[in-house]
Amino acid sequence: MLAMTPPMGYNTWNTFGTNINAQLIKETADAMVDQGLLDAGYKYLVIDDCWSERQRDPKTDKIIPDHNKFPNGMNDVSDYVHSKGLKFGMYSCAGVRTCADYPGSFDHEFLDARTFAEYGCDFLKYDFCFKPATIDGPLLYKRMGMALKASGREILFSACNWGSDNVGTWIRSAGAHMYRSTGDIFDNFESMKNIAKSQIQNYCYSAPGCFNDMDMLTCGMYGKGNVGSTGSNDTDYKTEFVLWCLFGSPLMIGCDVRNMTPATKALLTNKELIRLNQDPECRGVIDVSAWDDNKKVFFRHLADGEYAIGFFNFGENEATIPFYTFHAGLVAGCGCGFEMKELFTGEETGLVKDYMNPVVGAHDCKIYRAKVVRF
Ligand code: GLA
Repeated sequence: MLAMTPPMGYNTWNTFGTNINAQLIKETADAMVDQGLLDAGYKYLVIDDCWSERQRDPKTDKIIPDHNKFPNGMNDVSDYVHSKGLKFGMYSCAGVRTCADYPGSFDHEFLDARTFAEYGCDFLKYDFCFKPATIDGPLLYKRMGMALKASGREILFSACNWGSDNVGTWIRSAGAHMYRSTGDIFDNFESMKNIAKSQIQNYCYSAPGCFNDMDMLTCGMYGKGNVGSTGSNDTDYKTEFVLWCLFGSPLMIGCDVRNMTPATKALLTNKELIRLNQDPECRGVIDVSAWDDNKKVFFRHLADGEYAIGFFNFGENEATIPFYTFHAGLVAGCGCGFEMKELFTGEETGLVKDYMNPVVGAHDCKIYRAKVVRF
């Protein structure tokens, strides 16, 4: 079975957009192994939009790889990716064209799914541009869900309709394993903050087999790439990664993994954060913030009677961020309290009975793993 915990991998779009080719994919595969990303759990290497010729093959009607970008065909690349122990991902679209105006899979779903299987594909991201207005969007995801199952190969289905049609309520039933729930991320703090905040109430729809995907990570991009804008600094990227891990979103890296800074590599391979993301119970977070919209506290039940508590300062100045344990269900006078350990610093809080108020820097966060103890 696929996707029993949030899928992890890498996707070309954020950094490279249309500038993709066989050489880049092979170098990325090498880097994923050499930099320890595969060992950390990132196993899908996904080629996003812009990989094909502008038109289908006139004889076979198949989507065919761009001859200049992939001169030896797609199997040359997928074989290489597989030889490194990675899984190979591709991209298509539910509409007649992809978002960057290449052939889409509308009315070609079964042919295309078989073609992707022939190309050695293990993961399909399925976008939503150029959908005929008269056609029901959910039906198109049901079609591709069936087509992938009939393709003869096990292919993870990564839906990408940007949250349209209340996607969380039906996409699991269409056979998808993960689904984008928002518009595209940009490489700045506002973008990733707004995406995370918009999904707090939607994590009840995320569970083993099908996960709410808050989009590819921008961590480590520093403004270089295809989803432009100002870029962020290491504090912002730390907060982004902690949010994605705490919420249980799929983790799809978007920076150039061939040239990661030591800080980016350490963040993306942080074992405690990935363990949090991959927690087998896959529960959503509870918003236990006190009152200020820039001071957020999220609480999550984990496996084995543990909990995660994240404190996020979305404001522009250092601040104290209050947490009342009764918001998480721990009432005063119950004789129990939390014992907590911060995952970056190892700091231990001692017993927290009813209230704590940690200091958190601007844009920064603190993330604790906790147990309830009797006192
Ligand atoms: C849409 C998707 C992005 C990316 C581009 C490619 O905008 O949401 O993630 O796949 O298309 O054109």
